[in-house]
Amino acid sequence: MNRFALIVIAILTVALAGCADKQTSDETTKQFVIGMSQCNLGEPWRVQMNKDLKEAAAKHPEIKMIFKDAQNNTTTQQSQVKELVDQRVDLIIISPKEALPLTKPVADAMDAGIAVIVLDRRIEGNKYTCFIGGDNELIGEEAGRYMVELLDGKGNIVELKGLMTSTPAVERHNGFMKGIEGSQIKIIYSVDCHWLEPDARREMASALTRFPGAGDIDAVYAHNDPSAHGGYTAAKLEGKGRENAIKFVGIDALPHEGVAYVRDGILTATFQYPTGGSEAIETALKILNGEEVEKDIILGTRVFTADNVADGGQAL
Ligand code: FRU
Repeated sequence: MNRFALIVIAILTVALAGCADKQTSDETTKQFVIGMSQCNLGEPWRVQMNKDLKEAAAKHPEIKMIFKDAQNNTTTQQSQVKELVDQRVDLIIISPKEALPLTKPVADAMDAGIAVIVLDRRIEGNKYTCFIGGDNELIGEEAGRYMVELLDGKGNIVELKGLMTSTPAVERHNGFMKGIEGSQIKIIYSVDCHWLEPDARREMASALTRFPGAGDIDAVYAHNDPSAHGGYTAAKLEGKGRENAIKFVGIDALPHEGVAYVRDGILTATFQYPTGGSEAIETALKILNGEEVEKDIILGTRVFTADNVADGGQAL
């Protein structure tokens, strides 16, 4: 082989190696890493959210998910978001425990050029890429109107609230107040139960002691189904049969939780609060592929009562 032929072979080899390299790097750029910061996995609804995210992501082989569980600790969640930024993930999905303390970590991620989808609970302001969640104000208002109908416009209610430093609790409260406006329904006891069933059980036991008469409490409005169930359990444990006289209304409507409670006659009604897991993945892909998305994506709700539970509830 003469020297000219050797040079040609050498040039071709280098060129082909370049092509091969390019091919691999093209494939690499198609892989996306999404970091998910979940505020806790102690509640069935959040386990369901992660399951929905995983199932939706599994349909897209180009997505790799990293899940972090803050175990209901705000400081842990703040540092986990920072870790995801330091890891240079392509996009962050966060379901924040509280609004204010998670606002800066989200802003820092945005400043670092990482898109952020805020899921279910909001942060303060609008420095995020996209918010996805249910309309908590509307759910609260529907629950209020339902209560007016249920109690014929008059009665005493115990409100077992969600964590009031998280936005759904504030919105579910405000919406409910709107829903009962103009009626003779009174909230006689209203307390922060932090979304937790044990707290709701304890607070409901206090309410029952404070209002001991058989007809003192007509209904319980709980901001989520675990709290509604906690309220029911406290009434049952009191041993005076008041769990049958008091109507319990909750929010979430997971099939194996709230909907089952309605079927079993424990709750009078529950309002669905969708996890938004699959919507978050579909939206993440759009963002990662450079498409425009809506700033706020609001999900619908359904009400489940004894009358419609067999038919899958009713859309609102
Ligand atoms: C779970 C949960 C749900 C509730 C939601 C509000 O942590 O408490 O029960 O609907 O969070 O963000």
